[in-house]
Amino acid sequence: APARIGLIGLGTMGGALTLNIAEEGFPIAVWNIDEAVTRAFPERAGELADKIVPCMTHEELVAAIQPPRAIILLIPAGEAVDQQIAALTPLLDDGDMIIDMGNANFHDTNRRAREAGGVNFLGMGISGGEEGARHGPAIMAGGRPEDWARVEEVMTAVAAKHEGEPCAALVGPEGAGHFVKAVHNGIEYADMQMIAEVYGLMRDGMGMGAGEIAEVFEGWVESPLRSYLIEISAEVARATDPETGKPALDVILDAAGQKGTGRWTAIEAQHLGAPVPAIEAAVQARNLSAKVADRAAGEALFGPGPRPLPEGALDLPTLQAALIAGKVLCYDQGFGMISAAGRDYGWDLPLPEIAKIWREGCIIRSAMLDDMAEALAEDPDRNLMMAPYFSKFLVDGEHALRTLVAQAAMAGIPVPALASGLAYFDAMRTARGTANMIQAQRDYFGAHGFDRLDGKDIHHGPWAGHGL
Ligand code: 6PG
Repeated sequence: APARIGLIGLGTMGGALTLNIAEEGFPIAVWNIDEAVTRAFPERAGELADKIVPCMTHEELVAAIQPPRAIILLIPAGEAVDQQIAALTPLLDDGDMIIDMGNANFHDTNRRAREAGGVNFLGMGISGGEEGARHGPAIMAGGRPEDWARVEEVMTAVAAKHEGEPCAALVGPEGAGHFVKAVHNGIEYADMQMIAEVYGLMRDGMGMGAGEIAEVFEGWVESPLRSYLIEISAEVARATDPETGKPALDVILDAAGQKGTGRWTAIEAQHLGAPVPAIEAAVQARNLSAKVADRAAGEALFGPGPRPLPEGALDLPTLQAALIAGKVLCYDQGFGMISAAGRDYGWDLPLPEIAKIWREGCIIRSAMLDDMAEALAEDPDRNLMMAPYFSKFLVDGEHALRTLVAQAAMAGIPVPALASGLAYFDAMRTARGTANMIQAQRDYFGAHGFDRLDGKDIHHGPWAGHGL
């Protein structure tokens, strides 16, 4: 039987997704840049091999798929995607479709959608790593509704399910799916960083070993912190390095990698003027972590930063409540950025739908997202942190977050994401801020003008050369 769908790229993610699609009963034709991988694939597929058509050329691939065709690209983001589109397009008929399921920059997706001509184009963000791709990822699609409709059956079948509801949806046109995936990753960075900061307080401030820390995270799995990231943090803290017999965490170099999606989120937030300080702090913490030699030189010159906390300065319930508050603040920032993009790009992004897609399958899946979806469904325009369920976590966790940040500062333990979360919280509850000083300064040196609290039609100050 001709294949229902095609796929290019049998790497970790593409191979896993192919097996997932085949398992759901859809015959799939596949091509890979390294022919040996394609040839070996049926063996890897085992009993699913009869649903998989290995193809050695693009022509073969195109011929194997039932028209109107849909071909998934799951290859490294960037140039490789443009190359594959260029190679495929002349072989395709009008109405055929290319679906980029890699971690594309959404600006590229916007461009590719506009350049697509007769070939239709969908940009889809998927999340959940290899395990997700194999057994159910979260899928955030961008493109035209009629194109999504053609692949919806396949996509919802392979996607993760939350109480039977598929975690896959069209979130908007063009690059909207990849944009939402990038923000997902920005939140992912901030969530991971806050967990790492709490880990640092336990390790350096409270002198706890990896095993004790694992126990704490294991305990938090049964709490509002219940999430994939807390679960895996418990598991990695629990793991032993087979090489040395030491805790695995203690043999891993403290320099974080990044492929770019978190950074794109921070950059895009700046373009949008959307405040996401916790996400920015997390990206910067990764940048800083890579400065291994500089950090060692700094420690040699100034003495070590982290010092043990005074006895009783922080306890575990304080860490937990602070982390809950921090997490609420970072999701509030992420959703705020999505709604800013919805307005700026005219995309009208459906916030409750997006929260629903993230409930299962993706890296940031958590118990809290369930409640976030509900809160956003009630009022999509609200600041998440001001929804009753979440404002309660902030009210309850405020003292803990403040204590944590203050104690960390006194002990020299860097907690940039949690600290910026706290500063964000304080700024968001300050009706009368200090930007009047900025406005006055701007007016003083550049006659930039300001508005007055009393609304009077006077826009310059009584300083020399300007205004009155
Ligand atoms: C996901 C992840 C994934 C991401 C990698 C690495 O949602 O499944 O976000 O898409 O690319 O986990 O990301 P970094 O290299 O940027 O940490």
